[in-house]
Amino acid sequence: MSRRLSAPEGTDVLPTIGTKEFVAWLPTLLGLGPADRVVIPELAYPTYDVGARLAGAQVLVADSLTAIGPARVSLLWLNSPSNPTGKVLPVDHMAKVVTWARERGVLVVSDECYYELGWTEQPVSVLHPDVCGGDPTGVIALHSLSKRSNLAGYRFGFAAGDPAVIAALLEVRKHAGMMVPGPVQAAAIAALGDDAHVVAQRAVYRSRREVLIAALTEAGFRIDESAAGLYLWATRGEPCWDTVSWLADRGILVAPGEFYGRAGAQHVRVALTATDERITTAGERLLRR
Ligand SMILES: Cc1ncc(COP(=O)(O)O)c(C=O)c1O
Repeated sequence: MSRRLSAPEGTDVLPTIGTKEFVAWLPTLLGLGPADRVVIPELAYPTYDVGARLAGAQVLVADSLTAIGPARVSLLWLNSPSNPTGKVLPVDHMAKVVTWARERGVLVVSDECYYELGWTEQPVSVLHPDVCGGDPTGVIALHSLSKRSNLAGYRFGFAAGDPAVIAALLEVRKHAGMMVPGPVQAAAIAALGDDAHVVAQRAVYRSRREVLIAALTEAGFRIDESAAGLYLWATRGEPCWDTVSWLADRGILVAPGEFYGRAGAQHVRVALTATDERITTAGERLLRR
């Protein structure tokens, strides 16, 4: 964490069984309930909402502190780079959120599982001194091997940050059986100690991204956001289900933006995770008249 993210001294680490289980169970493991409010982004990975619901907590959808207003909040999720949009949050916005949260005793958890996939912008961790002021208090960063190392099947991620929060979570999680198997931890240590394969994996995603950006643009799509991460956030200026079906007619499967929030009603999420051959074929089909 200090080598790659400039995380401060005193940052503690907790292995997770992939990051999805952590996102889904964090509110419950923190003991949140109906009296608590969880803030999630307007366009978001659905599991933030799922996690709040599992705990019976309230969900507040907001991208800005002004949108939160005076509401009392227990947990605030950041996700940069974003799934689905690929947006990278600016450092000063993240720093402002951390200051605001600390003044109110709100825990900030920053899902950074696409951190290594910055294209036109480079993401910054919540643990970077420019964001957290060199102090992990009140902040947690979430990282995964699934994207950077293409090891989704290993189910390995980790949470890093505030040692008091990490210690409390470790206590609950070990009694709930949420441990990462030893061999997977050993594989994760090897993968996290090696940067060369991350560079190679990035190159694979970059070339797929270039093929799809060129073909989608040529086919009349506009690509919004998409500065980082594993997806293109594309629109034809029509309801997302019309776009999904236009693409399905060409044998191309994408996710309707509506899955991620109301603001996605006119977008689709195009993934860079298909094989090179499938991506090339999709590009050709997009250009076929
Ligand atoms: C924003 C975000 N967080 C977390 C995850 C979970 O990934 P994993 O459980 O494989 O670490 C995903 C997977 O798509 C994601 O998009």
